[in-house]
Amino acid sequence: MDKDFGNGDADLTQLEKIPTRVFETALEGSKYVAREIANLVKEKAAKNQIAVLGLATGSTPTKIYDELIRIHKEEGVSFKNVITFNLDEYYPMDPKRLQSYHRYMHEHLFDHIDIPKENINIPDGTLPPEKVEEYCKEYEKKIIDAGGLDIQILGIGRTGHIGFNEPGSSKHSKTRLIYLSKTTIIDAASDFFGYEYVPKMAITMGIGTILIAKRIFLLAWSESKGRIVAKAVEGPVTSEVAASFLQEHPNTTCVIDRAAADHLTRFKCPWTLKGATHEIEIHFDPQMIVKAVVWLSQKVQRPILRLRAEDYEANGLSSLLRQEGDAFQINIKVFSRLRDTITGWPAGGKPQNVDVPYKKAKSTKPQKVVVFSPHPDDDVICMGGTMIKLVKQGHEVHTCYQVSGNIAVFDHDAQRFADFVTEYIKAFGLPGLEKAQEIETKLNEFLKTKQPGEVDTEAIQTIKGLIRKTEARSAAMTCGVPRENIHFLDLPFYQTGTVKKKPLGPEDVEIVRKFLDEIRPNQIYAAGDLTDPHGTHRVCLDAILRALDIFEKEGAEWYKNCEVFLYRGAWQEWEPEKINMAVPMSPDELYEKRLAIFKHQSQKDPPLFPGDDSREFWQRSEARNKLTAKIYDDLGLTEYEAIECFVNLRELRKYIKI
Ligand code: F6R
Repeated sequence: MDKDFGNGDADLTQLEKIPTRVFETALEGSKYVAREIANLVKEKAAKNQIAVLGLATGSTPTKIYDELIRIHKEEGVSFKNVITFNLDEYYPMDPKRLQSYHRYMHEHLFDHIDIPKENINIPDGTLPPEKVEEYCKEYEKKIIDAGGLDIQILGIGRTGHIGFNEPGSSKHSKTRLIYLSKTTIIDAASDFFGYEYVPKMAITMGIGTILIAKRIFLLAWSESKGRIVAKAVEGPVTSEVAASFLQEHPNTTCVIDRAAADHLTRFKCPWTLKGATHEIEIHFDPQMIVKAVVWLSQKVQRPILRLRAEDYEANGLSSLLRQEGDAFQINIKVFSRLRDTITGWPAGGKPQNVDVPYKKAKSTKPQKVVVFSPHPDDDVICMGGTMIKLVKQGHEVHTCYQVSGNIAVFDHDAQRFADFVTEYIKAFGLPGLEKAQEIETKLNEFLKTKQPGEVDTEAIQTIKGLIRKTEARSAAMTCGVPRENIHFLDLPFYQTGTVKKKPLGPEDVEIVRKFLDEIRPNQIYAAGDLTDPHGTHRVCLDAILRALDIFEKEGAEWYKNCEVFLYRGAWQEWEPEKINMAVPMSPDELYEKRLAIFKHQSQKDPPLFPGDDSREFWQRSEARNKLTAKIYDDLGLTEYEAIECFVNLRELRKYIKI
């Protein structure tokens, strides 16, 4: 750990009822837990004893398993003396299916270490209903007979579930069959290619089963887990948040990354902690000052320039007053910082450069701009207004779609387009009718018997990819981007035909590097989601970051002056203290942006992967842009209809490791 996040500082962690260690990245946290597990396994082996591990699935523990495999292969730690019990399995579930936790555990861990097969225990999703109760009792007994769980690792669901102990689960619950909550089913929908295909039940260890483990690690990575982690760690013990019962366990550590820690009081508003006014030393760096002042302004509902020393003092911020001098100085500093983020000329180009004096003048020459979009619609959803402005202001704008997004197209749309092509060929008497009919017939035959979650044929994947490609082109052209400036990278990591993707490889990075080297832009925009439902945005960002690191190392001349901005995907927005550029939109521009989003017809009414928000993308996007404008307005800045906001990569890297 190379950063001190106040771990172990009793003043800062006073509200944390589960001891919590915050690591800078998920990888560092995972390595720490993997090391604890490996140490236990070695200690037990030295004493000729068995180590009993309780294991979890999902996206959270994968890096721990990677690290355990590495430790096994490179350090020779054997798992021959290990017995494992998994937390849960969907019910019903065939162990061979893509989504089965049996398959997951073998692919992520067991196939790569020397654990004896007979030592592996995972709840059986194939049992007939009448046998489940008896089986669950046996599962409990087996854990006890093995000597009880030495270490249990846990992820946390958005409902606060651990295992599949959904809200309402009792503290004393044991292994049993339960119904999944709606939120959990929505979260699993993308793995199952649709809400309706997710099993409605699961077999899970109970909270009582988990609580008798000798040592527990509760893990969470990424901002999507921030709120629920704070509830589990700082909130009351309640069956509404199963993980909160861990507060009563004597040996649990919550291990999280910095992003998942964002809602803990020590990060969110440490100045509200008891003793903050006088005893707790809070260091206010420039970003923290903005965060505190925005918080204060929102709390007392007064614009920044009207905040008084009394407001600071009454709300735990007298240490900020002491650090910075007087209230008005702080107000002016934060106000100016936020005001300077606002620009209607994101890449410069303003005629005669008659910008207001407080703003650093940007070039008046047309700039080359690359807008990366992970999926084919993120560009217009998240920064369509800025794209429209950039084009109108005479810049050379390129859009670049990183993956095909083909898995998010409904089968019926593929059928409709295949039908269209056949009719088109017929209508114009074109050659190739037989081939087109053959493709269409095969497609219809396959879809007649397609099972939920079954991988599409290559032809169907191609058709679905084309649907998204042509929608993306149409949307970008609606923003004024010329056809020849619209690029599709089809990064190989995505091309598995399933929701599960390959890890990012050097070939992906090389494709991005080569593309950028050909254009050598003055400005780059990329989706800065550090998490998203299937992780694709994060992988796409990593491909760009790794390519940029190559230019940085090479000392590429064009890159030295290139600005890199990150926008946020459909799921969240940047916090005001992080924003470096805020681009306002007029009501008409907002409407133009909506029309561009409308071009993504396959993602409308409803999209295949809606996530936890049932609104359409244009609605979410407009609401978000209007909210940002409202936040700026309430802080006392100029009132706009809507605002798109961006973070400068080099600035962000001063605060977080990405
Ligand atoms: C998995 C399990 C669940 C997950 C939780 C978080 O075995 O029991 O409780 O740990 O749903 O899932 P991810 O890690 O995918 O966010």
